[in-house]
Order: sequence, then C-alpha cells, then structure tokens
Amino acid sequence: MTTQTTEQTPALDARALRDAFGTYPSGVVAVAGRAQGRLVGIAASSFTSVSIDPPLVSVSVAAESNTWPLLRQSDQIGVSVLAAHHDALCRQLAGPADERFDDLAVHTTRGGAVLLDEAVAHFTCTVHDEVEAGDHVVVLLAIEGVHVEDERQPLVFHRSSFQRLHRDDLDPRRLDGRINGEPVAAETSGGQESAA
Ligand SMILES: Cc1cc2nc3c(=O)[nH]c(=O)nc-3n(C[C@H](O)[C@H](O)[C@H](O)COP(=O)(O)O)c2cc1C
Repeated sequence: MTTQTTEQTPALDARALRDAFGTYPSGVVAVAGRAQGRLVGIAASSFTSVSIDPPLVSVSVAAESNTWPLLRQSDQIGVSVLAAHHDALCRQLAGPADERFDDLAVHTTRGGAVLLDEAVAHFTCTVHDEVEAGDHVVVLLAIEGVHVEDERQPLVFHRSSFQRLHRDDLDPRRLDGRINGEPVAAETSGGQESAA
C-alpha cells in the first residue's frame, strides 16, 4: 500500500491539491439559467447538499468565471444532475460559452431555470447567499422544487475522468435507520415533481 502525506509532499502546489481533490469522487451538475435573453450555464462537480430545513445546496464557482456574473441574474437557476450518458454533454457545458447549449434538449421554467432533459434529478433554485472563498465563490442555492428519476444512473467524475457506478459485491442495502440515528424512509418518490 502506498501512503503519501503532506510531509512527504512539501510543495503544496496547485497540481498536488488538484490531484488530492480528484481522489474524491463526485457527480456533475449543469447549473443553468436564462439571462439577458439567452441560455447561460456551466458544468460543475462541486455541487453539495447543505441543508434540509431550509432546503439548501451549494456550488463552488471559480471567482474568475465569466458565466456566473450573468447566471446569477436569472430569477431561478436550474441544477440538473447529469446522467451516465452525459459525458459529451458535460464537456460541451464546460466548453466555449456560445456553444454550450447547441442542440441540447432543455426546458426552461417560468422563472428562467434551465433544466436538462434526461437528467437524474432537477433542482429549481434561487440564490440564497454567496461566500467568497479563496479563488472560488461558494454559492448557496435555496431549493424551490425538485424532481427525481429513480431509474437513471448518474455520471461520476473521479481523477479528472468520467466513470459509472458499479455495485459489484458491495452490500446494496439502504442505510435505513443508521444515519444520525434517525430512521431513513425506505421508499423514494421516483418521477414525482414537487412544486417549483
Ligand atoms: C467535470 C467538470 C466539472 C467542473 N466543475 C466546476 C466547478 O465545480 N466550478 C467551476 O467554477 N467550474 C467547474 N468546471 C468548469 C466550468 O464548467 C466552465 O468550464 C468554467 O466555468 C469556465 O467557463 P466560464 O468562464 O464561462 O464560467 C467544471 C468542468 C468540468 C468539465
């Protein structure tokens, strides 16, 4: 087994940090809205659930992002959890800004949240707060509506490449009753839309 610590890697440079951050797998979301008459958005792997009550999620956006100053003007912001087949779409959403939505199947809420068709889940949000954090801004989003497609598998981002989920021989049982000592509902409401 290879164990590397920061003592063995004294140069805490950007590359070393990116490599270390990259060991932590995540999903990827599309964060998108409508501003100044056009669709704007980015791909983001920094999406995190934050709070149930009130319902909050966060995304860390690069302070130098050209898109965020526009996107934050959208009355509502859509967060779509990318599905396993969305690898090319993800690259497109991170590419040249004026081509990001070319030929993408999306729908827009009345408030301007732009949501990807065929996503695993949709969150319809408004900006709750923005916290400057080094070279990023942690954007806290208040959730106004959610929609989940239970049968769809997510895209996984790990060590700078895309992966899929594999259960193999892991125990697939849900962690009911073992999170914070609280019972966790066994049923999920797949395909249900709650009010946006
Ligand atoms: C897999 C993946 C994950 C990304 N995650 C983030 C992220 O969490 N935050 C961020 O600011 N940019 C992230 N990006 C980069 C953005 O999608 C986009 O390329 C970047 O914001 C530059 O565009 P802009 O100047 O129009 O904002 C990610 C890109 C990829 C491909």
